Amino acid sequence: MRAKPANPGGRLLGGMFAALAVATAASVVALPPAAAETTADTCSWMDASKSSKTRANELVAAMTLDDKIQMVTGIGILNPKAPNKGASGVIVGNPRLCIPDLVLNDSSGGIGFNQKGTTAFPQGITQATTWNTDLIKAYGEVLADEAVVKGVNVILGPGLNMSRNPLAGRNLEYAGEDPHLTTQMGVSLIKGIQSTPGVMANAKHFVLNEQETDRKTNSSEVDERTLREMYLPPFEAAVDAGVGSFMCAYNRVDSVHACESKALMTDLLKKEMGFDGFVMSDWGANFTTAQAANAGLDMEMAGDGYAGISYAQPAKWGAKLKAAVQDGSVPQARVDDMIRRITTPMFRLGLFENPPATGDAADKAVATTPQSLAMARKVAEEGSVLLKNSDKILPLKSTAKKIAVIGLPASRLGAQLSSQGFGSNHVPVFGLHPDVSPPLTALRERAAVNGTNVSYDSGAVPALSGLLAKGADAAIVFVGNAEIEGEDRPNLKPRQAYCNPFLEVLQGLVSRCFGIPGDQDALVKAVAGANPNTIVVLQNGGPLAMPWLDSVNAVVENWYPGQVDGDAITSLLFGDSNFSGKLPITFPKQVGDGPLRTPEQFPGVMGADGIPRSTYSEKLLIGYRWYQAKNIKPLFPFGYGKSYTSFAFSGLTVTPKAGGAATVSVKVTNTGSRAGAEVAQAYVAFPSAAGEPPLQLKAFDKVFLKPGQSSRVTFELDRSAFSIWKGSWTVKSGCYTVRVGNSSTNLPLAKKIGRAGGSC
Ligand code: BGC
Repeated sequence: MRAKPANPGGRLLGGMFAALAVATAASVVALPPAAAETTADTCSWMDASKSSKTRANELVAAMTLDDKIQMVTGIGILNPKAPNKGASGVIVGNPRLCIPDLVLNDSSGGIGFNQKGTTAFPQGITQATTWNTDLIKAYGEVLADEAVVKGVNVILGPGLNMSRNPLAGRNLEYAGEDPHLTTQMGVSLIKGIQSTPGVMANAKHFVLNEQETDRKTNSSEVDERTLREMYLPPFEAAVDAGVGSFMCAYNRVDSVHACESKALMTDLLKKEMGFDGFVMSDWGANFTTAQAANAGLDMEMAGDGYAGISYAQPAKWGAKLKAAVQDGSVPQARVDDMIRRITTPMFRLGLFENPPATGDAADKAVATTPQSLAMARKVAEEGSVLLKNSDKILPLKSTAKKIAVIGLPASRLGAQLSSQGFGSNHVPVFGLHPDVSPPLTALRERAAVNGTNVSYDSGAVPALSGLLAKGADAAIVFVGNAEIEGEDRPNLKPRQAYCNPFLEVLQGLVSRCFGIPGDQDALVKAVAGANPNTIVVLQNGGPLAMPWLDSVNAVVENWYPGQVDGDAITSLLFGDSNFSGKLPITFPKQVGDGPLRTPEQFPGVMGADGIPRSTYSEKLLIGYRWYQAKNIKPLFPFGYGKSYTSFAFSGLTVTPKAGGAATVSVKVTNTGSRAGAEVAQAYVAFPSAAGEPPLQLKAFDKVFLKPGQSSRVTFELDRSAFSIWKGSWTVKSGCYTVRVGNSSTNLPLAKKIGRAGGSC
């Protein structure tokens, strides 16, 4: 946690009052009355020695209905009243009541949307690939620092949905296919973000938002046990970690829109899980006035979206919500509850004490620092996976005097297009925005140190690339895949990104970029056919098929590295840094090998009532759980990743503890000749009576070791690691096996342990 000056923008709260007074007549947002009865001097709730709950109660008591309605309805960034033009959404502050603006901003990989001067960090899937919770927490701190500079106080992340489907368009934003990994990554990010005073995180998208097809109409149908064991844990952990806000999803669940579901928002999230913060709608995901309010929605986003934001729609709240309160269809107490829920985490996390910078102070500020770039680089390097390295072709040898670099993503334009995904996760990198480091430039500079020449071809004509590759000591092919919010992928083939430059003005627009077919697989084949030392670098956000895998020597899954693109991959390829990333998602050989085999599962089928439904009938068997249960060999398994050094596991102990817990301990040794990091992964096999998948990840830790060095890793598994959902969390009596190793399919050590009276 770093200290931060109060009121960094130096803005007087009174200034916003003047702005509010000139609001346009077109606005549907009710304005607070220009009353002077309460002033900053008399805002008793500004006394930070009082509890957040007391402060929230005092504030609610001082608010008029108009004040309240205004605080629960967002406005679009083109609205003249919007205090921040780069944000994804805003709630205008209320100076009379000492309430600061709420400025909400996307950030799967950096403070993006339409902000300028922020860092394009590696995306969510890259972050998850690090399996390094300390690093992701530290990343959260740096992200929050950038948020503060840009006048942002609510960071719209982490995304906690699961990669149920390898084709899902937003896999790039999430942490893969395992609930434990997603939970650990999500909690680390939340803790990092919220350790900065005045910045709040957001757990999204609640819940079962695992596909983009029919994204605003589709209903996810799941049984209770699957929901509890596979999809809820990251959200429950977010509540326990003290996340201030939730975002309800576009999709329906059990035929009811997530943002209108009392079962989800009130009964499950608030009452059962004990969440005391607020639920905002996804942008344009609120379709009703009273229904959503009474179901437990606390804030409508983007609310009065105003012109220019493609997915915005006229507010269902604002004046309409006021009328609904006045005619009794929404109880006044519900609106008071919304305000309490919004302000309680604002008080707890210091948002009142640290109002955001606005105007030029935010807009013109440059948030990127050397510290952010160093963090981006660390995440990009630890978030890359060495999938294949035959004959130890990598790291590149100084004896290779001619290297051919091939593929559009290696160029400057290509790097801008291929280093991130598209949609709300995107951080501006075109035009006046900070540039991406192109792989070609970085590779050339580094190769020059060895006196190596680097030639380049864009790969537009595979035969020409083959000619270039033929004369080289090694050929590196960059393959990019465009993944885009709002669209699931048609197949596992890479598609080049194309963006409409005229729409660059407003970033975050999903429709701005497209994936265009072009045969990058043919390109790899042509290069591999011409050069026996071919290395493929993949820049993408979800699994790809690799029809050329046997013909190349090395494959690197670089995911979306963000703007440090060329710097990070160059360092890894030349061995200046070591690979330590592990796959957070299974790579299937082909889509049909996976669990989603019927249209009822994906993309869903239209019901007689006009609602398309996707049924999660594969239940607990997503990702590696499916492949192991069905004995199907994937292309690359979950948890897998190579290193330039080697590791050994030994001395596994599993010791039962009181309350159904257990301590697991294992020694990890670096048996190779280079420094490196290994991820010790502990999986639990349940007794067959439990009806669970063969193995489930329950703990992991990343250890950095010098050559020859050993370290003992200890995991505390609590009772939940052995529990299943049977109407409540239950431990089946029987013999459990704890397996430890470095991927879901390489677990050399095992120990049995009896649970709930069972013995082995
Ligand atoms: C996305 C959210 C995002 C919001 C604001 C929506 O399209 O689903 O993840 O936070 O836009 O940009």
